Amino acid sequence: MSSVAVIGSQWGDEGKGKIVDWLSNRADIVVRFQGGHNAGHTLVVGETVYKLSLLPSGVVQGKPSVIGNGVVVDPWALLAEISRLGDQGIKIGPDLLILAENACLILPLHRDLDAARERQAGLAQIGTTQRGIGPAYEDKVGRRAIRVCDLADPEALDWKINRLLAHHNALRRGLTLPEVDVSALRASLLSIAPQILAFAQPAWWVLDSARRAGKRILFEGAQGSWLDIDHGTYPYVTSSNTVAGQAASGSGLGPSAIGYVLGLVKAYTTRVGEGPFPTELHDDDGRKLGEIGKEFGVVTGRARRCGWFDAALVRQSAALSGMHGLALTKLDVLDGFETLKICTGYRIGERMLDRIPASARDQQALTPVYEQMQGWRDTTRGARSWRDLPAAAIKYVRRVEELTATPVALLSTSPEREDVILVRDPFQPGG
Ligand code: GDP
Ligand code: IMO
Ligand code: MG
Repeated sequence: MSSVAVIGSQWGDEGKGKIVDWLSNRADIVVRFQGGHNAGHTLVVGETVYKLSLLPSGVVQGKPSVIGNGVVVDPWALLAEISRLGDQGIKIGPDLLILAENACLILPLHRDLDAARERQAGLAQIGTTQRGIGPAYEDKVGRRAIRVCDLADPEALDWKINRLLAHHNALRRGLTLPEVDVSALRASLLSIAPQILAFAQPAWWVLDSARRAGKRILFEGAQGSWLDIDHGTYPYVTSSNTVAGQAASGSGLGPSAIGYVLGLVKAYTTRVGEGPFPTELHDDDGRKLGEIGKEFGVVTGRARRCGWFDAALVRQSAALSGMHGLALTKLDVLDGFETLKICTGYRIGERMLDRIPASARDQQALTPVYEQMQGWRDTTRGARSWRDLPAAAIKYVRRVEELTATPVALLSTSPEREDVILVRDPFQPGG
């Protein structure tokens, strides 16, 4: 197995950035395959904090990195992120970054539409990141998106912009937004075209060549299973598939290229934005998790909602992505809690459920069924081996494995890059 897909198993922010950075050391190439700059992946290396939204987290270790066709790319955000990382000493040129030439672009009009819809929705808001993600994917599926390769063909760009604006200006009139001018959009796209095209390549071909050469590929998921457009808590989801199957179609490799699926889970649960969250806490325990876990969104700065670990939710994620193992992060945040709760299933009235139902109304009505576990006084923070963990913490990890029916491959015990316990190497799960 020479490739690993890192997939969020909850509602995002499970610590994918940290784990991808750590695993990058063992990989030859890292690829993002869905989402866009709605993602916020944090890497802590000594005193330096890197916050990545579009760039694969492998760039910090200097690994060749691919933004795959499944990603929606705001070209201005991409250039800004490259420049920001440059200021932090990470130089990213076309030798390091490959941008799929068939990826679709996010334009300012997508951001406008995202924000206008959220404003108009009132109480029915999704709580999006307002980065234009949903509207950009709509245009992709609607077959009117502008793609990276279109920047290389100024003549054809004209009618593509016209086709796009015929749709958007009609919408904008209805929303009382000013219409977008064809020539202004054309000029702004052409002004950044050379910088963007410098990175453009047939990413599928680069990845296929890497695969044939026996290189180790690391797929970096964004968001999490419960934000998946098909399987998540619809409509409170993002607009892409976030499950492991997307790693194949969003990068241009076949499913057989994905060797090991690593599910990322926080030792408790968080969610940012609106939507159902069965184990959400509105009490001191919830506030404590938020404070100790520093649960504020990387992209929007919003406070994340916090709750107990939901094993039923993660068990379902493991099935949806065919997870081979889990990376359990933020165990240290549970240090000092006298008792801990784990959700094992749900109740709606008299009805017992061991999985999340599809209906939004049923999802809102779920009451968690908990089992209680003893907490631990000693610290796990910074632990790098099992020996450093208190017995009660080991018991908690073992119970997570049992209830999710998935073994723990990695444990993370602080934001710092090296604070990881390796139980089994996802690149060499056999030994
Ligand atoms: P991602 O979106 O999945 O990459 O996760 P985020 O970066 O949005 O959020 C995870 C946060 O938790 C970041 O601030 C990380 O630095 C931090 N973090 C990651 N692993 C650990 C851990 O094991 N312990 C603690 N205390 N923080 C962690
Ligand atoms: P990472 O990769 C957590 C949430 C938003 C909102 C919903 C739809 O850092 O885990 P969108 O802007 O995508 O249309 O918003 O999805 N969301 C995330 N929540 N982590 C993320 O990414 C997220 N990306 C989007 O808060 O509820
Ligand atoms: Mg995040």
